[in-house]
Amino acid sequence: MTQPIVAPGLEGIIAGSTRLSRVNGLAGELIIAGYPLEAIAANATFEETAYLLWNDRLPNAAELAELQASLASLRALPRATLDLLRAVAAEKVAPMDALRMAAGTLSLGGIEGAENEAAALVARFPTVVAAYWRLLNRSEPVEPDPALGHAANYLYMLNGQIPSPAQARGVETYLNTVVDHGFNASTFTARVIISTASDLVSAITGAVGALKGPLHGGAPGPALDMVFEIGSADRAEGYLRAKLERGERLMGFGHRVYKVRDPRAAVLSAAAEKMFQADGDRQLYDLARAVEEQAVALLAEYKPGRNLQTNVEFYTALLLHGLGLETALFTPTFAIGRVAGWTAHCLEQKAEGRLIRPGSDYHGGLGRLWVAVDERGN
Ligand code: ACO
Repeated sequence: MTQPIVAPGLEGIIAGSTRLSRVNGLAGELIIAGYPLEAIAANATFEETAYLLWNDRLPNAAELAELQASLASLRALPRATLDLLRAVAAEKVAPMDALRMAAGTLSLGGIEGAENEAAALVARFPTVVAAYWRLLNRSEPVEPDPALGHAANYLYMLNGQIPSPAQARGVETYLNTVVDHGFNASTFTARVIISTASDLVSAITGAVGALKGPLHGGAPGPALDMVFEIGSADRAEGYLRAKLERGERLMGFGHRVYKVRDPRAAVLSAAAEKMFQADGDRQLYDLARAVEEQAVALLAEYKPGRNLQTNVEFYTALLLHGLGLETALFTPTFAIGRVAGWTAHCLEQKAEGRLIRPGSDYHGGLGRLWVAVDERGN
């Protein structure tokens, strides 16, 4: 009998197939439904990307207009979701926890059928995050504006001001860049849940919980803090070396799949450079480049052979900071992009209809004899 393979973390295991995205970690290449990430990030509206994932083709002009109108009509939150957010804000809960709690309420409001639930979840995630952020900061939520696209409307609901085209494009590029990424932890979580013939809202709520962790979507905040703490390029080496000497991880570096620079880092770095250039203040961007260079060199020194390179989170931090978002909003904004990918994976998994249920390697005791409770001693 051949020995079963035990792969903690499922490393190297192909757990299913998908038409949604292909991640080539050795070439540093990401394909989204047939298109190179670079083409999607630079050109697509977020609505076009969502349509592509759901339908496996780009929409024509009429189909796109219809999707834009339909998503815009679904943005408003059920009354109970808003009531919940108010109560949660009073306890000053972190935005990702508020999003996780609110996600579970999004089945309210008469949305039925997996496709409609997918659209409602994508349409409402920005409303939840923006409304919660304002409540947390003691201001009233801003009603969504149906005349604005998905990305621009998110910034509008956050700030109460219509963003400039450059700001709207910046956030749209970000949302497109993180929309899907193979069987990452949160997507796999969603697929496991939907594979039990559970519903989409349950699957997406679980995915939010998985994305929250600092080993997955929670890294950009700490990555930016690190750049700020370093403060000037000449301090980078000493600071990073001390961190590595203490056995700490450098946030924004390393990836389970990519062994070269994450292609999303390149796309976001270019978008951040454009934005900082337009603002006439390249200082933070230049500092981040210097920190990146030093971090990659030191990781090669301290972890030889591990090929630890810049991941998506490093430049996420810079781009979103440049857009005026505070660090607590970074991971929720990631979720606003990724929810389109999660829903597409759920629809794909649902169509496949196969329960995900891996085996496990038992390493506990054997042959133990049952002892009655009053005979067990201490
Ligand atoms: N800084 C320092 N050392 C690191 C880092 C890092 N960022 N990443 C990995 N290592 C080290 C590990 O300590 C380990 O060293 P060891 O063999 O001496 O024990 C070795 O490299 C291999 O690490 P693993 O944990 O096996 O790598 P894994 O594939 O599990 O980790 C992960 C991937 C979790 C992303 C890791 O690189 C990490 O913690 N990075 C920092 C957090 C981060 O940026 N997360 C965002 C990831 S992108 C995303 O999910 C959207």
